[in-house]
Amino acid sequence: MNKSILLKDGFIVLPEKTLEGSIRICCETIIALGDLTPLEDETVIDCSGCYLLPGGIETHTHLDLESMGTVTADDFRSGTRSALAGGTTTVIDFATQFHGESMARGLERWHEKADGKSAIDYGFHMAMTEWNQNLRREMASVVDGGITSFKMYMAYKGRMMVQEDDIYEALEEAGRLGATIGFHCENGLLIDLLTRRIRGEGHLSPYYHQMTRPDEIEGEAIDRLETVVYLLHTNHYIVHLSTARGLSSILRARERGNQVVVETCPQYLLLDHSRYGTPEGDDFEAAKYIMSPPLRDRRDQEALWQGLASGGIQFVGTDHCSFNFIGQKEMGRHDFSAIPNGAPGIELRMNLLYAYGVVRGRMDINRFSVVTSTNAAKYFGLFPRKGILQVGSDADIVVFDPRAEWTVSSDLLHDNCDYTPYEGFALKGRVRDVFLRGSHKVASGKIISENTDGRYMRRALPDSDIR
Ligand code: URP
Ligand code: ZN
Ligand code: ZN
Repeated sequence: MNKSILLKDGFIVLPEKTLEGSIRICCETIIALGDLTPLEDETVIDCSGCYLLPGGIETHTHLDLESMGTVTADDFRSGTRSALAGGTTTVIDFATQFHGESMARGLERWHEKADGKSAIDYGFHMAMTEWNQNLRREMASVVDGGITSFKMYMAYKGRMMVQEDDIYEALEEAGRLGATIGFHCENGLLIDLLTRRIRGEGHLSPYYHQMTRPDEIEGEAIDRLETVVYLLHTNHYIVHLSTARGLSSILRARERGNQVVVETCPQYLLLDHSRYGTPEGDDFEAAKYIMSPPLRDRRDQEALWQGLASGGIQFVGTDHCSFNFIGQKEMGRHDFSAIPNGAPGIELRMNLLYAYGVVRGRMDINRFSVVTSTNAAKYFGLFPRKGILQVGSDADIVVFDPRAEWTVSSDLLHDNCDYTPYEGFALKGRVRDVFLRGSHKVASGKIISENTDGRYMRRALPDSDIR
């Protein structure tokens, strides 16, 4: 007979309300929840004063990704360990089909990258770097394999960019299959032109990356995408939304009847373009923040926070795409366009969102659990197994102590990157314990199990009825 564990006397966070009570877990699942008395022989963990939250679901990572002549600093081993320490128990990574390759081959490689290395449960989106009829024919078998979300890039001309005719056909096929496609919305043609112009004028410092991608570049791409969607009315979502301009395009599209699901990221909520320094400055530290889309301004941050709170935006992923400052970001020391794009963030997602969202009064704890877990579980076909604290669900649980106070420093994190964009951030609240399918993985903020027993999750079709 397996022994049960009682998480005793916490605040159980549900999507619409919070209950005072305890959760009993046994054999990987939640078996009871409410006012529970300890059983004889049961392990009891005192959770008084703490929130009990559904394990976080990270919707956007690039682990072990080959990009811009290098490979991300984090693979599945270090990336998922870092996620676990931060309260994330499921990650959905972007398996990538490279040019000329089949999706089956891309997926096979991603299974090899992840198999036996993941500390948490994981699934894949399928990122397509081009479009053709072979890929169209393959989509059905990808969906059969439990990958029910794809990604296409409207940016990165010549490498991954697709245009409206491709998008139309891909959405048509995804719609037929009941799957979804996430879009990286930036105008790749204009970015390419602006980059050539700016470099041609001799502007090569990291400051100029943002000048190649003003906010209109995102907004216009969203307008173009939503025009295609208007013709087809298919399921789709927008990844890493960064601007108020983009959000107003989304709201306009929704008014016309398009059902748009949206992800944003902590960096667009919390960091701004002042990190890029000044045109005169040549401080290469700015390379740490080179990502696409780039960091925006405070007005954008406020619009995104409001969108998250009000249901305009449905979930938060980090776009964890880590490159070391030394040796990797440095590849672009003399040319901003050679700096590998992306930054780390997987470990701090829940902590940042709590400290700057809940503590600052921008959202309540229930909305916090919805945008860090429940909505992603529903949209990415994992619900009700994941994303909710209820009897029968996987016992993926975070014990979160709202009283803790700490300051972010790269040395405290578990990823394999030599910096964090959030260095020095003062945080209130901290992930204390983490359970993955009932197994106690993090205690008092420390990883206590090094098992890489995360399971591959075959996902069901998306439920887009989320707010
Ligand atoms: O700069 C970023 N975001 N790199 C990762 C790839 C992507 O566009 O999501
Ligand atoms: Zn992207
Ligand atoms: Zn990404």
